[in-house]
Amino acid sequence: MKKRVLTGIKPTGYAHLGNYFGAIKSAIELSKKEDYECFYFIADYHALTTLKSKEEMDEYSYNIACTWLACGLDPEKVVFYRQSDVPEVFELNWILSNVTAKGLMNRAHAYKAIVERNENDGEEKDNGVNMGLYNYPILMAADILLFESKLVPVGMDQKQHIEIARDIANCFNNKYGNCFVLPDGLIQEDVCTLVGLDGRKMSKSYGNQIQLFTTEDVLKKSINKIVTDSRLPGEPKDVDCTINKLYKLFVSKEQAKDFETRLKAGLAWGEAKKELFAVANEYIKPMREKFYYYQAHKNEVDDILLNGAEKARVIAKQMLKKVRKLIGVK
Ligand code: ADP
Ligand code: TRP
Repeated sequence: MKKRVLTGIKPTGYAHLGNYFGAIKSAIELSKKEDYECFYFIADYHALTTLKSKEEMDEYSYNIACTWLACGLDPEKVVFYRQSDVPEVFELNWILSNVTAKGLMNRAHAYKAIVERNENDGEEKDNGVNMGLYNYPILMAADILLFESKLVPVGMDQKQHIEIARDIANCFNNKYGNCFVLPDGLIQEDVCTLVGLDGRKMSKSYGNQIQLFTTEDVLKKSINKIVTDSRLPGEPKDVDCTINKLYKLFVSKEQAKDFETRLKAGLAWGEAKKELFAVANEYIKPMREKFYYYQAHKNEVDDILLNGAEKARVIAKQMLKKVRKLIGVK
């Protein structure tokens, strides 16, 4: 029996190096192994809580879809789809809402953080909270449970959501009989947290990201914006710096060692940035070409996603049939 793996990425911005090295790369490697059956999707309805316009939804959804394909996702091997193309997810979402304690949602980190901020600011506690944000973990549980997913690769920040999905699955199973597989998070602790331009975690929310796919020129400009200290050329550099951390990702161990030695020997920051750009660009180039190909052929992307959704729906329909029977709905 193959192990079923499922994960979604929210289209809330352009994919950056942190997304690639922290999530996409290893998910694609996993999908190439024989023992796994992978379901990867664009979590567009989850993004609805943050997106500001239909243009953003359109732009970012294609960006994320083209990114997966450019990074090597094989749609013959992976069931690759848009969440919004699988209506069964939303039916299950409602059913699961009815076995989910409100208290469980009150304890979800994202919601709690907003409540705490509001309380500190002297605002009403639910200020700025809509029901999409509040119910977000239930929709995520529906994504996972619908496909009997066993492994869910996610970042640390999503760990609680997997635990919530397990809790919800348990509640349903206890009330109606065994139905859902209990998922486990595959938290990639060995994957480093990539730092961004300012040395903090690379994240869209900090605006410190280096976009994965842009023109060479923009990539160069982003790398030039990496914050460094004021050590002069010739002065030894701290190897714990952002440039060194990023450089390592693109090269062999030997090359990384050589770069470190030269940093310690006083390589100028300007020179180091040039070298980082060269290796990053070399690494990204072949994928970038594929990315721009898909961006220019969105019909192909749509076909791939719809095809994936069809495959997903075959399984989703079976599961929903079982669920409906268990709850007594015809
Ligand atoms: P962002 O923080 O930019 O909004 P997301 O939350 O959409 O990124 O993350 C999508 C995936 O990329 C998650 O699996 C997350 O763990 C991973 N990821 C995001 N930023 C980083 C980072 N700086 N280092 C490693 N992985 C990251
Ligand atoms: N909430 C996840 C995030 O913010 C995205 C997501 C939605 C997801 N549904 C999922 C991840 C199901 C794993 C499984 O990153």
